[in-house]
Amino acid sequence: MSAKVRKAVFPAAGLGTRFLPATKAQPKEMLPLVDKPIIQYGVEEALHSGIQNIIIVTGRGKSAIEDHFDVSFELEYLLESRGKKDLLAIVRNVSDMINVSYIRQKEALGLGHAVLRASELIGAEPFAVVLADDVIDSETPALRQLLDVHDFFGAPVLAVMEVPRENISAYGVVDAEAVSHNGSKDRVYRIRDLVEKPSKDDAPSNLAIIGRYVLTPEIFDSLQAIEPGSGSEIQLTDGLKHLLHSRPIYAYRFEGTRYDAGDKLGFLKATVEFALRRDDLGAPFRAYLKSLQL
Ligand code: G1P
Repeated sequence: MSAKVRKAVFPAAGLGTRFLPATKAQPKEMLPLVDKPIIQYGVEEALHSGIQNIIIVTGRGKSAIEDHFDVSFELEYLLESRGKKDLLAIVRNVSDMINVSYIRQKEALGLGHAVLRASELIGAEPFAVVLADDVIDSETPALRQLLDVHDFFGAPVLAVMEVPRENISAYGVVDAEAVSHNGSKDRVYRIRDLVEKPSKDDAPSNLAIIGRYVLTPEIFDSLQAIEPGSGSEIQLTDGLKHLLHSRPIYAYRFEGTRYDAGDKLGFLKATVEFALRRDDLGAPFRAYLKSLQL
């Protein structure tokens, strides 16, 4: 049985250039899917996976994220005095349940660099990394699925999914061999190699890394040892490749639907599907979409 994972790191210092001009003065993590900021989906997933300590790695212009997870005294006072109990509960809900810390990544030097910034706050224990752009809708929270595999092997575990070859170069890609777990050989893999954003022809498989990781603290030494890679950035994938020389690392093909909310089309798909599933919006929104007669 491995040590309990208590902390999750949320890298959120990226510039959000794919969503300009919306992200000129507002962090992309705060763009709403229906009525909840993207990052809150990830934070709730961590909470529902049993992790309450949230470490958000931010950069300049990200103070809206801190305000969002803070107490909003004026707003709560107003809602309370107007007797709006439902809205008050919605506003209080997340900030009451999580214990959140912030750390600055002064320069956007890559995902591996962002994770390394959290090392002091993590210390010598296993931890999770959640990339909020990847919104995953599933019965069992995706991070919980990974934690179960981590509990079993006591080793780092990355979320993966199969993606079409033509899209593979947008991802970290693993070369991996299926291993038996819980009597099936369907979802768990032992990683042989990993490569960040390979060309279509160089990709070792169609198994792409998706933004959920359970890592062990040795990753920090690896991240310190490596040179900048793809995009001249310190890549988490490269750190994991370095760590693979000394430790086994596993991949887990999670159950659920992943939306790339960092991409305009992915964001729109998530918005439409989440709205259709809502009790208060689903029926009229479906009727509206039908009326468009596309
Ligand atoms: C990051 C990782 C990449 C992973 C992807 C998943 O890339 O570096 O390995 O496949 O997230 O969303 P980014 O999308 O930040 O370029």
